Amino acid sequence: MLKKVAILANGGDVAGFNAVIRGIVKTAENSGVECYGFIDGYNGLLKNEYVLLSTAENGNAEGILPKGGSIIGSSTNANVFNYKVINENGEVEYKDLSDICVENVKKDGFDCIFTLGGDGTQKSARDFTLKGLNVIGVPKTIDNDVACTEITFGYNTAVSVAMEAIDRLHTTGETHHRIMVLEVMGRYAGWIALEAAIAGGADAALIPEIPYDIEKVAEKIKNRQKRGKNFSVIVVSEGAMPKGGTLTVEGTRDNGKGVDNTKLGGVGPKVAKQLEELTGLEARNTTLGYMQRGGTPTAFDRVLSTKYGAKAMQLAMEGKFGTLTVIKNGKLDYVTLEDVVGNNKTIGAVSGNTKESNQRKVTMDDDLVKTARSIGINLGD
Ligand code: F6P
Repeated sequence: MLKKVAILANGGDVAGFNAVIRGIVKTAENSGVECYGFIDGYNGLLKNEYVLLSTAENGNAEGILPKGGSIIGSSTNANVFNYKVINENGEVEYKDLSDICVENVKKDGFDCIFTLGGDGTQKSARDFTLKGLNVIGVPKTIDNDVACTEITFGYNTAVSVAMEAIDRLHTTGETHHRIMVLEVMGRYAGWIALEAAIAGGADAALIPEIPYDIEKVAEKIKNRQKRGKNFSVIVVSEGAMPKGGTLTVEGTRDNGKGVDNTKLGGVGPKVAKQLEELTGLEARNTTLGYMQRGGTPTAFDRVLSTKYGAKAMQLAMEGKFGTLTVIKNGKLDYVTLEDVVGNNKTIGAVSGNTKESNQRKVTMDDDLVKTARSIGINLGD
């Protein structure tokens, strides 16, 4: 019998974090289980900072379904297996502090920890299962690139925000006869760009999985011009690369060891400039950025997040630990965290968001790729 469980939200935030939290808490409360929330992801586990979550009147988890962000915070730099500390000489050192987390969980008697996060979060979750903790993961990321699931929570909201941006760029682009470029998120996977391009009726989508030839995009725009269409909308993933070229990097982040610390950004303005030169049409870039992560979740994300939250708690009650809730063949299901980690097996090694981590990328036989090609959305090749 479970008595006490806890949730942690980790990694970059998405719309739907709170909806998952609510799904877990409500299912727990309905089964007489106390549910707590660690503050700021794995940092809370390390510092043993947590609060009791309650959906009762005036409780801290009441009315949170439509709320953006996470009521228990989240952390993007808390790899407790490789944690940044400043030693007594003032130097930066990386230490494995995971055993402190294990002690905290055991000492305070948590029967299960729910880890809401992307591939890095789930890698740590799997590593904690090897250290004897009961962990159940829930797949989060706007990039939609967590392995073993068809969809992550937060993704649909990001696509909707990008679609609305495309709609708006469409009318201003048409008015001023311009090429409107929209840079969206997506480090290694182009799901947001591709799906938003279809939803918004864009003319081209450049994604990390298909290195682009800018001449091909310019050709598409010129063909439109020949048909009297003096404007175009181009969607570009932040991780898109030209053929034989590299990523466009804005700077560095400090998200710890074992993660990719490059801060992507700038491919949109680059593409806009090149297209202006190649077509003679004026071009403008808009970078959508964190608009894709904040704010209220779509109906789809509210439902998906609730399903994921309820399923996670049900798995806990069935004693199915070391798992991740997933959507498989359109149905709610689960897989082992071991499968999610893929070949990145070494405990404490590469955490996530790197080329080594097991990510679900866009494949050329995906329906979205086929649909885009079929209706003439240029993919830069
Ligand atoms: O991984 C999700 C993501 O939205 C990426 O697309 C983006 O590169 C990254 O987060 C930015 O994260 P942050 O600036 O919060 O470190």
